[in-house]
Amino acid sequence: FGNNDHGIAGRARKYRVTLDPRMDSTSPTGEASVHDDAMKESALNATVYPPASFVNNAHVSSLKQYNDMYRESVDRPAKFWGKIADELYWHTPYDKSKPVHSFNFDVRKGPISISWFPGGKTNLCYNAVDRHAASDPKGTALLWEGNETNQDEVVTWAQLKERVCQLANYLRSVGVGKGDNVTIYLPMVPHLVISMLACARIGAVHSVVFAGFSADALASRLVDSKPKVVLTSTGTMRGAKPIPIKKVVDAGIKLSKDKGVHVERVVVYDHPALPLAQCNWDESIDANWSDVVDTQPKDSPVEWMDSEDPLFRLYTSGSTGTPKGVLHTTGGYMVGTYATFKYVFDHKPDDVFWCTADAGWITGHSYLAYGPLIAKAKCVVFEGVPTYPDAGRCWDIVDKYGVTVFYTAPTLIRSLIRFGDDVVNSRDLSTLRLLGSVGEPINPEAWKWYHEVVGKRKCPIVDTWWQTETGAHMITPLPGAFAQKPGSASRPFFGVVPTLVDSQTGKELPPGPGEGVLCIKGAWPSMMRTVAGNHQRFEETYFSTYPGFYFTGDGARRDEDGYFWITGRVDDVINVSGHRIGTAEVESALVEHDKCAEAAVVGYEHDIKGQAIYAFVVMKEGVEFTAEMKKELVMTVRSIVGAFAAPDTIHWCPTGLPKTRSGKIMRRILRKIAAHEEDGIGDTSTLADPAVVNTILEWRGN
Ligand code: PRX
Repeated sequence: FGNNDHGIAGRARKYRVTLDPRMDSTSPTGEASVHDDAMKESALNATVYPPASFVNNAHVSSLKQYNDMYRESVDRPAKFWGKIADELYWHTPYDKSKPVHSFNFDVRKGPISISWFPGGKTNLCYNAVDRHAASDPKGTALLWEGNETNQDEVVTWAQLKERVCQLANYLRSVGVGKGDNVTIYLPMVPHLVISMLACARIGAVHSVVFAGFSADALASRLVDSKPKVVLTSTGTMRGAKPIPIKKVVDAGIKLSKDKGVHVERVVVYDHPALPLAQCNWDESIDANWSDVVDTQPKDSPVEWMDSEDPLFRLYTSGSTGTPKGVLHTTGGYMVGTYATFKYVFDHKPDDVFWCTADAGWITGHSYLAYGPLIAKAKCVVFEGVPTYPDAGRCWDIVDKYGVTVFYTAPTLIRSLIRFGDDVVNSRDLSTLRLLGSVGEPINPEAWKWYHEVVGKRKCPIVDTWWQTETGAHMITPLPGAFAQKPGSASRPFFGVVPTLVDSQTGKELPPGPGEGVLCIKGAWPSMMRTVAGNHQRFEETYFSTYPGFYFTGDGARRDEDGYFWITGRVDDVINVSGHRIGTAEVESALVEHDKCAEAAVVGYEHDIKGQAIYAFVVMKEGVEFTAEMKKELVMTVRSIVGAFAAPDTIHWCPTGLPKTRSGKIMRRILRKIAAHEEDGIGDTSTLADPAVVNTILEWRGN
């Protein structure tokens, strides 16, 4: 950083942070080359203070205020969360004579259970839409930007309510009610957000499946959740590429039918990218959105839901088995997403908020839809891709709508860096006041570019660590409260008690600097309640490895200031471009190919994607491994899981995989080979056949 070789950097390098909010990180302090090693070193250790102009108006504006609020949130949760919950509408207030939450995190003491806001009745849709439609009907709710630069639409609060009510009425008319499942497979059009809200309004449990998943992946989610209705579109455009969405749904439904699951209705939005007339149409199941939804009455009653009634399920990958339906409930998720949105994004009424995540992932659920809408933020919803029609598209959108808070993933930042600073500098980004990062660790170089080139050194960066399971931010800077360190997610959000556990002993590390497995002590409002239909799997995955704690699956380091640095997954989950992919899923897809006998998949470092997928394959007897075969294997994964899970490298293992005598694949060795760190392979004597490693190395590049 320009200011690293001056006062701030001196202190930062030693991590000794004495917060001085008056310190303005934007003060010009000289230029330095990023390529200089010394600068790189200090960039890694830098501490960046929020500018005074930001601090002065922030909801939380000092470390002391943060500390006081944090202490209260942990020591007196009823008082702390009560104040936040009271900012929202409860049809029946929760019972304040009872503890605000009750939970058991210890499998040895009985089933894992979590509940918040006992006896309360509320509705997410009412809080996210009706309140604002009543107070500010003409105000902007959604700013939709299509794939093409001339496609856009403003949806006001009143319009949003009407459209949500129409869909709610339609769903009710076909017998969907409280507790029923609805699957949503839509691109980033307003219909997607409307669909989620309509389900919430009537108490139906939505399951959004990212519209980049394959028919097989969709089918397995349909089979698990058995929805009556699927909401979808004819197609979409991703850049210059038309995507036939309904075709995938048709195939998914056919596959699920073979497994005995009968979807009754498919409601199809006629997307301009692909006219309905060009889609296969089955009158007995398909319905045109404009015929059946847009003709409904524009008002519809709200179903009042108990705090612990399910809101949605969202499938996510783990290290083993099929994706899990992570189940979130009503009251806690509402309060958690609202509180984090308000404090982490320091929300102000004039903000224009843009979260680039697709609503098919948790980031889109919590910070494209629920959190911002509950807080009455104006939200940009973008259907296209960041590089179409050119690499300046994101910055054009910031410029066009006057975006003030921009929230994205490091992979997007890294992919845009290579187009050069001019692409950014030629757009007016002066409205930006806060930047966010999510999904994977952000490397300090990308952080620095984001801070300097996009944020012009005046925007704090919130590096938010959280998960599908946690529902809302867990470890993150509060932008005006304390300094940020590039690459560190910093301190816990209110009510979150992270701890580091020694993976060998299962014991908590003592306070202070250390590195271990990241666990959470005690329940927070927005946490998942179960794996839909499989509570045992919930307990085994998250609560059995380190009894008494919620196990995150991540490793982390804590520095002397109590800042957390997430080091990545400690299980067999690969994080590709911020998307979580289970190695088991890719492996089972590869062996679906009739010529593939065995597969083992590991992650390796990738400049843009963070991690990429490296697949080791063993072919069936007599099968020749050719370039064509490689392509077929990649295609198999694309069609079974989805394009984003396609392996970057396929490595043939002619004499098999490295296995122990008991038949366990030694992934440690495979990770070293994938990383081109042959010297680090180490001891192979425990392998059933140590020579296998040499054969694998010989076949690199084939
Ligand atoms: O490994 C962590 C990584 O993403 C995982 C959660 O993935 P998912 O459930 O798909 O949710 C992604 C969006 C919340 C985590 O276990 N991760 C997420 N955010 C960060 C991160 N790793 C480092 N820094 C982050 N800010």
